Amino acid sequence: MISLNNISKKYNMGHVTVNALGPVTLTIHKGEFVAVLGPSGSGKSTMMNILGCLDRPSLGEYLLDNTPVHGFSRTKLARVRNMKVGFVFQSFNLLPFATAYENVELPMLYAKISGKEREHTVKHLLEIVGLSDRASHRPAELSGGERQRIAVARALANNPDIILADEPTGNLDSKSGAEILNLFEQLHADGKTLIFVTHDENLASHAKRIIRLLDGKINQDYTQN
Ligand SMILES: Nc1ncnc2c1ncn2[C@@H]1O[C@H](COP(=O)(O)OP(=O)(O)OP(=O)(O)O)[C@@H](O)[C@H]1O
Ligand SMILES: [Mg+2]
Repeated sequence: MISLNNISKKYNMGHVTVNALGPVTLTIHKGEFVAVLGPSGSGKSTMMNILGCLDRPSLGEYLLDNTPVHGFSRTKLARVRNMKVGFVFQSFNLLPFATAYENVELPMLYAKISGKEREHTVKHLLEIVGLSDRASHRPAELSGGERQRIAVARALANNPDIILADEPTGNLDSKSGAEILNLFEQLHADGKTLIFVTHDENLASHAKRIIRLLDGKINQDYTQN
């Protein structure tokens, strides 16, 4: 379902060009549970942003469900992202003045889902992440782990096939980290495709496949049990 063919991302910084990623060639099938590891600056976020249609590659081909998305305009990419991908950021990126409920509802507003269906789905998602009793809290009125769980609920709002998470537990204590991992394992059991970046080898040990990046290239790619 995800196929990268010689994907690279370069940044022009005045006189120098930074080769942030690639060339990377990679296939990830539906339902895989993948951890991406690598040192700081190795291109993990760059790759996730391209996979999640948040950014476009400089070169190469990206097929998402057989659709070549590498040449899509930003508007078209945003539409694909809204339909297919749920993204969890390290820094949560929740809207500070919106409640937990409203934050989870937002992607469905963009997708023009009816009010009734939105209400049903938000309630269901808050239940899944165990935060039904925090619906009216704003992000500042939640713990770090709770905020991250709201971010996961929001990522699930449009029932995406693919969930991407960049350091989803980076800001969390070990107990909250374990709760997020639990959620991921449930989603994996439900057949979702999960790809997450982490520095935490223990967290990575729960994934079925490990991809290690080094200097923007795939250094290792293997499955584990
Ligand atoms: N917008 C940008 N402009 C220029 N260079 C960038 C930009 N974004 C990232 N880079 C460079 O590209 C390289 C890869 O960055 P990236 O953010 O993908 O690393 P990372 O593996 O996610 O690191 P970390 O573990 O620190 O988050 C780095 O050398 C970085 O300095
Ligand atoms: Mg990063």
